[in-house]
Formats: sequence, C-alpha cells, structure tokens
Amino acid sequence: MFYVERGLVIVSVKRVCILFVVLCLSVFVAGCGSEKAERDSEAILQKAQALTPADAKLAEVYERSCVSCHAVADTSAPLTGDRESWAPRMAQGMDTLVDHVIEGYGGMPPLGLCMECEPDQFQALIEFMGQ
Ligand code: HEC
Repeated sequence: MFYVERGLVIVSVKRVCILFVVLCLSVFVAGCGSEKAERDSEAILQKAQALTPADAKLAEVYERSCVSCHAVADTSAPLTGDRESWAPRMAQGMDTLVDHVIEGYGGMPPLGLCMECEPDQFQALIEFMGQ
C-alpha cells in the first residue's frame, strides 16, 4: 500500500512537471506570436512613413494633411500602403470614400484637414494610400 501511494505521488509529480513544461512552451510560443505581430506592424508603419505620392502637388498636399494621421501609429486611421486595412474600405467604392473624406468620417475631420483639396485630388490620394 505504501509503495502504491508513493507511486501515485511520483506519477502526480511527473504530471505537474509535464504540465509545467507544456505551460512554459505555450507561453513561449504565444510570446513569439505577439513579437512577430509587433514586427509586422512596425514594418507596415515604416512602409507608410516611406511612401510619398509621385506627383509633386499631390505630395505637398499629402505631407500637409493626410500623413499626420495615415502614417502615424495608433491613430486608428488605415496606414498608407497597408493594403489589408484598406481592402474593406476600398470595397465601399471610390465615390463613398471621397464623400467620407469630404464630410469627415469617424476620427477623421472633414476634408481630412485639406481645406483647398478638390474631389479628384482626394481620389488620387485615396488611390495612393490604398496601393
Ligand atoms: C486628423 C487625422 C486624419 C487626417 C488628417 C486624415 N485622416 Fe483619413 N482617416 C482618419 C481616421 C481616424 C480614419 C478612420 C476612420 C474610421 O474608420 O472611423 C480615416 C479614414 C480615411 C478613409 C477611409 C474612410 C472609409 O470610408 O473607410 C479615407 C478614404 C481617408 N481617411 C482619406 C484621407 C485623406 C485623402 C486625407 C488627406 C486629405 C486624410 N484621410 C486625412 C484620420 C485622418
């Protein structure tokens, strides 16, 4: 009887050890996962900050307005060049997107802070940011 109980104790210690190892492994794997996600969002942000419209006039407008939210982390604005974030927005159609910029949308002020921009400039800026 004594030996059986000792056996049980050993078995349960083993189990605790295995559980512990499994727990450590899952924390390790989860840690790796979030590190990877962080790297990805850092890469997306760096891409957003590196992109500028090819057209000089458009670039000037972009640098003065859109860039202050669309190339900054944690503004909740879809980042320039982040196609994945733009895809569901693009799916609404260009007319809707241009209207949203003109009227303001969620955290975005009316005209995206470009008071003198024409609708066709907004369209070009949207095409550029959603590329
Ligand atoms: C002050 C910050 C800010 C500025 C400046 C800004 N945006 Fe935005 N923009 C946002 C935020 C925040 C969102 C997300 C809004 C939401 O989904 O609630 C957004 C979303 C958008 C969308 C998607 C709208 C939709 O229907 O999903 C478009 C298009 C857009 N911005 C274009 C522009 C353009 C073009 C400019 C420059 C002329 C600009 N934005 C400037 C903050 C800004």
